[in-house]
Amino acid sequence: MAKSEKVIDLEDLPGVGPAIAEKLREAGYDSIELIAVSSPAELSAVADIGEATALKIITAARKLANLGGFESGEVIFQRRREIGKITTGSNALDTLLGGGIETQSITEFFGEFGSGKTQICHQLAVNVQLPRDKGGLEGSVIVIDTEKTFRPERIIQMAEARGLDGKEVLKNIYVAHAYNSNHQMLLVDNAKELAQKLAKEGKPPVRLLIVDSLTSHFRAEYVGRGALADRQQKLNRHLHDLMRFGEIFNAAVVVTNQVMAKPDTFYGDPTRPIGGHIVAHTATYRVYLRKGKGELRVARLIDSPHLPEAEVVFKITERGIEDK
Ligand code: GTP
Ligand code: MG
Repeated sequence: MAKSEKVIDLEDLPGVGPAIAEKLREAGYDSIELIAVSSPAELSAVADIGEATALKIITAARKLANLGGFESGEVIFQRRREIGKITTGSNALDTLLGGGIETQSITEFFGEFGSGKTQICHQLAVNVQLPRDKGGLEGSVIVIDTEKTFRPERIIQMAEARGLDGKEVLKNIYVAHAYNSNHQMLLVDNAKELAQKLAKEGKPPVRLLIVDSLTSHFRAEYVGRGALADRQQKLNRHLHDLMRFGEIFNAAVVVTNQVMAKPDTFYGDPTRPIGGHIVAHTATYRVYLRKGKGELRVARLIDSPHLPEAEVVFKITERGIEDK
């Protein structure tokens, strides 16, 4: 699809002048895709226009965004041909994932504290920038950091271990700290803006979006049984926004999820793993990480539709993620 390459402005839509475009952007309708999936009633309310005009705008947006209807198998085939893969730094882990972290998919790393989720995120933020023959996509990366665990020093260390200039690598990593779950969700919209801006400026396209951690804010804010439905619904929407980001920009989406060591008692509530079912249904690849001896870590691929459930060992060293 490579929509990231042909960025469309709101003003390109028939009936949208600068004033209406401004109102739409202010209300958060800042991309053709978002307008395409809105309703005439909501659009007419936020942009102060008649419903007939709103409908005309939505119809045009649907054509341009190609979200409005069915796609031929050929179009889907073409889009799938653009799927890229990012090396994790470990051949064994790449093999487990069918060749690396895939664009247009969500990959979830879950495991207990210290199992290596954040380290893998750092490594991918470096590796996505590598040339294609070295396992990268020559792309930039957006990081939504919910726990303030992003460490530029660690990026430099990992980059230099691969012969890259650490400072240059940092230039292509865009980090925002999410203060709470609502902010975290909003940051996906900001990420879309940033990705479009980078594409326009001819900067390396965003090929990776990281949310580390996906669930920590949701877990802290929505406590107790009464909050459960609300939390799952929000998380569900968030994941679908992330998936859409991945498809629109041909980017990999990587999320982390901390769980207790015993996978059937996530968060001390055996009947309801946080986000468990929702994340399981939306994430394309789910990798369960656990600690081995010293530097060693074990990764297990869980219920993937087209890859065998298997386990591999890798290690976390000064250089980053490596084969054992
Ligand atoms: P939580 O976010 O707490 O759930 O954990 P996590 O899964 O994100 O763990 P993280 O990726 O932060 O892994 C931490 C582990 O990585 C440490 O216990 C170390 O074993 C290893 N590690 C982190 N930084 C370095 C480093 O600079 N050098 C080396 N050799 N190992 C490191
Ligand atoms: Mg972490």
